[in-house]
Amino acid sequence: MLVLGIETSCDETAAAVIRGRRVLSDVVHSQIRLHAEYGGVVPELASRDHLQNLRPVVERALEQAGVRFADLDALAVTCRPGLTGALLVGTQFAKAVAWAADKPLVGVDHLIGHLLAAFLEFPGAEHEAETPSFPFVGLVASGGHTALYRVDGPLPEQIRELGSTRDDAAGEAFDKVAKLLGLGYPGGPIVDRLAQEGDASRVELSAPLPQRSSLEFSFSGLKTNVMRFVAERGLPDNDQTLRDLCAAFQTRVVESLVKKAHAALEQEGLDTVVLGGGVAANSALRSFGTRYFAERGRRLVVPSFRASTDNAAMIAYAGSFLAERGVDEKRALVTHPKSVIPKVTKKGGGPR
Ligand code: KG4
Ligand code: ZN
Repeated sequence: MLVLGIETSCDETAAAVIRGRRVLSDVVHSQIRLHAEYGGVVPELASRDHLQNLRPVVERALEQAGVRFADLDALAVTCRPGLTGALLVGTQFAKAVAWAADKPLVGVDHLIGHLLAAFLEFPGAEHEAETPSFPFVGLVASGGHTALYRVDGPLPEQIRELGSTRDDAAGEAFDKVAKLLGLGYPGGPIVDRLAQEGDASRVELSAPLPQRSSLEFSFSGLKTNVMRFVAERGLPDNDQTLRDLCAAFQTRVVESLVKKAHAALEQEGLDTVVLGGGVAANSALRSFGTRYFAERGRRLVVPSFRASTDNAAMIAYAGSFLAERGVDEKRALVTHPKSVIPKVTKKGGGPR
């Protein structure tokens, strides 16, 4: 199935064309520079920038894949969750072009995209891990969400949440700690880089929500610990203490993610964890997690770096299963009762 995916839920304007698992094109226009001076995403600026860039991004995705609208079997667009204005730009655009080109359109849950991103095959990319198979435990750790799922298949009704964060998402914790340390935005990759030269054992930070029985996460206490460290010791400048602090913080986050995912495997009687979301790009999470599960006879599957952070290929892929099932009057576009996309069908007329 040849599917065009569109993603505008946060600060990336993205479009991609896939056939099955194969990514034929993957275009991402990042707004990072636009939001950097504010230390986080400004929703109104995000919507305006999506509006300006979506059309050229989609055109580039089609061109790079060497396809026309007429060739597509379906369109898929992120319909939840995300910034409302940003989502509306993507969904309204997708509805208009799907209607004009007379193609079925499906609305995709962004988190399902992350859960399935490890299946994607990028051209020329060496696969860091073998393709997962259902069922598995999915761990989504992004800037907006951190949760564990039981994934029995690619459709929304085959995915069940097992536990999520009580407060900050893992990526959000990285971003907030980086902001506190004056490191810039987004904080995850910066903290990751500094932590690689740090020694976690030199800074004591207590573990976040350590009870094994709970599949919930909590990162706000850890963030407060970092704040306390800074209040007592002063802001560590770009020296070894800063690197050690980053390493200690990162180790705590990573251990929490990995141990909770392991507890989820035990609870569900499964043997594979599949990572997704921007934090899946974290080097410590990838290396510590791979080792941790291998030592216990289990398996961690990590998506390629390109598939970890926000992209439209994962949306197209998740959407392909919905489109395959068929877009009928009842299910048209609606993947979830809270979907922001109202009912529109190929045969039922255009946007209402
Ligand atoms: O999935 P994503 O691209 O967007 C959302 O859906 O939120 O995730 C973005 C998040 C940001 O919080 C960013 O700091 C974090 O992923 N991130 C990382 C790394 N790369 C991105 N966190 C830790 N280590 C990284 N290498
Ligand atoms: Zn995301």
